[in-house]
Amino acid sequence: MTDSSRNDGEQPLRGAVLGLGMMGRHHARILQTDPRVDFVGAVDPGGDRFRALRDPGLAFDSIDALLSSAGSFDFAVIAIPTEEHVAAVERLAGEGVSVLVEKPLAATSDESRAIINAVDRAGVVAAVGHVERYNPALLALRERLGQLGRLVLISTERTGPFPDRIKDVGVVKDLATHDLDLIRWLGGAPVEVVAAQTAHRMGRPHEDLVLVTGRLASDVPFACNVDWLTPTKSRRTRVLGERGMLVADTLTGDLTFHENADVPIEWDTTQHMRGVSEGNSVRFALQRREPLLVELESFWKYLQGEGEAPIVSLEEGLETVLTAEAVLSSARSHESVHLAGAAR
Ligand SMILES: NC(=O)c1ccc[n+]([C@@H]2O[C@H](COP(=O)([O-])OP(=O)(O)OC[C@H]3O[C@@H](n4cnc5c(N)ncnc54)[C@H](O)[C@@H]3O)[C@@H](O)[C@H]2O)c1
Repeated sequence: MTDSSRNDGEQPLRGAVLGLGMMGRHHARILQTDPRVDFVGAVDPGGDRFRALRDPGLAFDSIDALLSSAGSFDFAVIAIPTEEHVAAVERLAGEGVSVLVEKPLAATSDESRAIINAVDRAGVVAAVGHVERYNPALLALRERLGQLGRLVLISTERTGPFPDRIKDVGVVKDLATHDLDLIRWLGGAPVEVVAAQTAHRMGRPHEDLVLVTGRLASDVPFACNVDWLTPTKSRRTRVLGERGMLVADTLTGDLTFHENADVPIEWDTTQHMRGVSEGNSVRFALQRREPLLVELESFWKYLQGEGEAPIVSLEEGLETVLTAEAVLSSARSHESVHLAGAAR
């Protein structure tokens, strides 16, 4: 990244959106209403089908058309099908435009590396939109990890019906990449090994259910239960420690602490055989800001040179795609797959 790619924070940032689908229309809403941004337009060859744009004259059908209307601008949010991320980043970075790329970074690790190379060559700023990291419940959970003592398990559940629009990837790359990113972020260590089972129930070429178990390099085990086959939607992250359990519900933005009871017992010598018992539970009052806005704010601050603004780096995005590939490889081979560490 070069200093010239950073805006000094005095002028609104000039920003655009690629893709006006499910995700892009929300980015477009924020970019058009936030005073910190001068919205220069959106690209979608399918047009503005959700009527996300206030000014229909700012809808373009190609990056070239956007560039010839807007001239140079500071950043673009890439919210197009995952398989198309690499070509869009290469084109925009080549024009000196910084990018916030929706998760997952790319469809494959090779494409993720191509994105990293394009960004490095161009010296622009880039980050991955793993929006769960900005959910108030998960931010508060991470801050409170210390109250759990030593970690015992991290476990996630992300289930619900199939969103018909996903065509290019299966549930591992589309949904479980949220979980694989969160587990590393919460556990504070890279994934060392995974073992996975998948199912294909809907007749699509890609899997629609995955169960992952694994272990971080810090020796903490984890589990993810992710599918598109469950009639009710669930988004739960559970971190178990030696003093209790924190549970985040990212649909409602709730965080609850279930404490192990500190109940003195008379026969001390058998205490170690009795395990934990149920203590008090506390549901925390949290300030519930929109995660997508918090994510964009972090990216803008980073772009303006506030190095401490929490963004998800492209290297972390690559790490998540590599872990997803290891999960798919394990499901195919019915073997545990070890991630290569430094060789990544
Ligand atoms: N962070 C999250 O929670 C989250 C949630 C959903 C999707 N996503 C990610 O966002 C991205 C988009 O997903 P979606 O659900 O919005 O998909 P979508 O199919 O609803 O929308 C994609 C849009 O991109 C347009 N498009 C296709 N190719 C294009 C191109 N080359 N240039 C410009 N526009 C193009 C399509 O016409 C479509 O309108 C994917 O990478 C997906 O993984 C992230």
